[in-house]
Amino acid sequence: MRVEDQPRLYTALAEWWPLFSPPSHYAEEAADLLPALLSATEPPPRTLLELGCGGGSLAYHLKGRLQLTLTDRSPEMLAVSRATNPECAHVLGDMRSLDLGREFDLVFIHDAIMYATEPASVRATLATAYRHCRRGGAIVVVPDFVKETFAPKTETGGEDGPDGRALRYLEWTFDPDPADDTYVAAFAFLLRESNGKVTVDSELHRFGLFPRSAWLAWLRQAGFAPRSRTDPWGRDTFIGVKPL
Ligand SMILES: C[S@@+](CC[C@H](N)C(=O)[O-])C[C@H]1O[C@@H](n2cnc3c(N)ncnc32)[C@H](O)[C@@H]1O
Repeated sequence: MRVEDQPRLYTALAEWWPLFSPPSHYAEEAADLLPALLSATEPPPRTLLELGCGGGSLAYHLKGRLQLTLTDRSPEMLAVSRATNPECAHVLGDMRSLDLGREFDLVFIHDAIMYATEPASVRATLATAYRHCRRGGAIVVVPDFVKETFAPKTETGGEDGPDGRALRYLEWTFDPDPADDTYVAAFAFLLRESNGKVTVDSELHRFGLFPRSAWLAWLRQAGFAPRSRTDPWGRDTFIGVKPL
């Protein structure tokens, strides 16, 4: 299996996202995250820019409390998010280079940050966040793992759609070379069309895996005053305030 630059999950297969990872899968996580977001700045934030919003499934749970601008480099994923979050602004752009020419109270980067597999990509993304964050505002970054918390795992899931389509998947996460700064997830998808025809697809995604100390140093170098909190699932959430 080869790692594609733009995974098919976010391009040719993007229309299947609501059967792979719909808003209902993010309710608990959002319930934990929302208080952290709302208390990250003083006064509490009103506007939030998300870099790499994907299908907007997590954003769905934030939009009632924050005014969201959702960005992603995949037009197909933005189309999914627009359908889920029609009331939110959507902009096509790469998190490493986006420049909207305006500032937000919060810049949020969820699992999209895992696709930054080189330190230079992480630093470019943090620079994007700094550029878009008002003084006194904050960045909130939630990588799936830092080096200290990585554990291999296998997950299965999928949903039945109202139109007769259905998806099931297996996601196998492992680290082929613990000496480097990446790990991989191999995906197998079973896709059932509404006429009953089932096809199989698969692909490999490569993710960045960096020590907590590197994250804190990069956030400091980007200009933020960072701290880290551990969420109920053992993940680090990095919160960095842009000084006044
Ligand atoms: C796992 S999905 C995000 C799912 C999202 N958390 C949700 O709730 O639906 C990861 C997303 O990161 C995006 N992405 C990866 N690298 C990116 C980059 N350099 N700039 C912007 N988006 C990126 C992909 O296009 C994909 O939509």
